[in-house]
Amino acid sequence: MGLPEQIEKLRFDFLAQLQSISNSKDLEALKVKFLGKKGPVTGLMIELKNCSAEDRPQLGKLVNELKEELSQACDASLIRIQADEMKNQFSQEWIDATLPGRKFNLGRMHPISQMLHRVLDILIGMGFSVRLSPDVETDYYNFEALNFAKDHPARDMQDTFYLNTEYLLRTHTSNTQVRTMEQFSPPIRIIAPGRCFRNETISARSHVFFHQVEGVYVDTNVSFADLMATLEEFASKLLGEKVQTRFRPSYFPFVEPGLEVDVRCTSCQGEGCRICKHTGWLEILGAGMIHPNVLRKGNIDPEKYSGYAWGMGIERLTMLFGDIRDIRLFTENDLRFLEQFP
Ligand code: PHE
Repeated sequence: MGLPEQIEKLRFDFLAQLQSISNSKDLEALKVKFLGKKGPVTGLMIELKNCSAEDRPQLGKLVNELKEELSQACDASLIRIQADEMKNQFSQEWIDATLPGRKFNLGRMHPISQMLHRVLDILIGMGFSVRLSPDVETDYYNFEALNFAKDHPARDMQDTFYLNTEYLLRTHTSNTQVRTMEQFSPPIRIIAPGRCFRNETISARSHVFFHQVEGVYVDTNVSFADLMATLEEFASKLLGEKVQTRFRPSYFPFVEPGLEVDVRCTSCQGEGCRICKHTGWLEILGAGMIHPNVLRKGNIDPEKYSGYAWGMGIERLTMLFGDIRDIRLFTENDLRFLEQFP
């Protein structure tokens, strides 16, 4: 086959193959195949050298024209193919800007933690510092050091989970009292938040697991009036200036005198309603002047020092002020409940 025929055939082959190309990658490959250094067009250029000097200019022109034509055809196809590809890409990346967005759920603090933080903030602001003591406790710190004798009937007030003969799950945060006295000398002004456990039948009103915040204050000349003033101040900070408090005598072995503190029902303002069981008052904590026997267990001389203590239930506070009627809601992890506390 002479050079002109070869040129014709190449042009024909190229155009035929170009027809079937639909993406820019294949096009580039086709271009390399025909016009690349090892391709047939370059081959023709080399072959020109073998032509007679008189045919060469004419044939050279033909080869150059072919080369030019092929590369122009490639460029033209590239523009068309790229436009198609872009159109394709756009149709795939199409977004419906009218679709509602996906809901992004933020975590939030558990209502018990929220109340705990509120209570701690107030008491820290009043000068108390936070101390922690263990959930797994000895009979000594939970009972004996708190003036509960071994066979003291008051132990029945709190049904205890015993782990073995030595250890139990603390039934109240009052285990912090003697532990703190052993480590620090007066003045002691601490609060102790923590989990407590009692072996009770779980119901809407009581659970085996709950939280308390204990307060302990020991110094010279700490009086019952100090206790009342502190608790009144706390109640007004938690519930507002207008809150009314009521102190009722009560009994706990580790305080003398002992009392329970009520506030005017926040729901009915004292009129009487379901929440306050129509008494107009809500009990929020137990308190009292620390018993001399307890101070002695903490190596503190009751002749020289006196002190007060209180313990309040955080679930109880949260239920009273959030009108929550079932304590079990706190441990069920039902989002419909938890999401009501932003
Ligand atoms: N520990 C008592 C209870 O759990 C509350 C209390 C604490 C009472 C401190 C008096 C003084 O019921």
